Amino acid sequence: MKTKDKVLAFLEKNKGTYISGTKIAEAIEVSRNSVWKAIKQLELDGFEIDAITNKGYCLSENSDQLSAIGIIENISIPELNNQIIFYDVIDSTNKRAKELAAEGAIHGTLVVANEQTDGKGRYGRSFESPKNTGVYMSLIIRPQELTYNEPTTVTAYAAVVVSNVIEELTGKKIGIKWVNDLFYNEKKICGILTEAVTDFESGQIEWIVLGIGLNISTSDTVFSEEVKQKAGSIFKENEISINRNKLVATLLEELLTAHKELSITDLMARYKEKSIVLNKNVMIQQGQESYKVKVIDIDDQGQLIIETQSGNRKKFSSGEIRI
Ligand code: BTN
Repeated sequence: MKTKDKVLAFLEKNKGTYISGTKIAEAIEVSRNSVWKAIKQLELDGFEIDAITNKGYCLSENSDQLSAIGIIENISIPELNNQIIFYDVIDSTNKRAKELAAEGAIHGTLVVANEQTDGKGRYGRSFESPKNTGVYMSLIIRPQELTYNEPTTVTAYAAVVVSNVIEELTGKKIGIKWVNDLFYNEKKICGILTEAVTDFESGQIEWIVLGIGLNISTSDTVFSEEVKQKAGSIFKENEISINRNKLVATLLEELLTAHKELSITDLMARYKEKSIVLNKNVMIQQGQESYKVKVIDIDDQGQLIIETQSGNRKKFSSGEIRI
């Protein structure tokens, strides 16, 4: 581990407490001067480190700089520590995760970034991913390791787990808009993009990349005019937010373990409980056409059962709906 990472790991463990440079140097077995240099580098990287003469250094309790070390400090399953690949800036974590999956990366490998310059959304759209206030992460899933292996079910699973984790950590009520957008206060605060590759010969899914983009404390002034109309954020600008490292660590652990106790029937029951479209009138978009329907049910494959205005019932499995 580099000295900078060792110092950061030490400060993360002792967040909110002042510790002298000498003590840090002793604890991580490097020179006092290397600690000083590492602190300067960390400050340049954006970490809020207070320094007081005779007291030492302290990583501010409110520090919310996303980092691999910060995520690892919050993880309780040690085997996951080696599977986190962090970028301060990247074009798209899904793109990088797909490359890694194709090279054989193991189930549970996580690519996470503080900012994306070319974040991808569904239907070829872009996903605006400004720095410091969101979380952009892509998890590599080998379907044989999961209870479910259909991408649609994996997407529903992700929507349920991510909304549960946000609710538990923030106390805010999150709704799911079919198929996989998470909403808070009538605005989209999270998008999920599932991409899968199937083995040509066996027809089996080789891997799935689960991309999750979350606006945590993003001010709507940074979004484009178009996105601003629909996108929101879990926290308002002046509200105290949650620690993003803890959020990523919890999401990773839950996504990799919650399925063990969640049958497809239970999963879809939870999905329906959180749905903001069930029993509602919505607009269905199919190609250029859009028409009004009522959502009657959501089946175990994640398909909508809709009723048209003329009273016909149909299944609707892919496309967009507007509420
Ligand atoms: C959507 O709303 O259409 C899905 C958005 C998914 C965005 C996430 S951010 C992390 C990952 N990397 C990407 O390029 N996209 C997904």
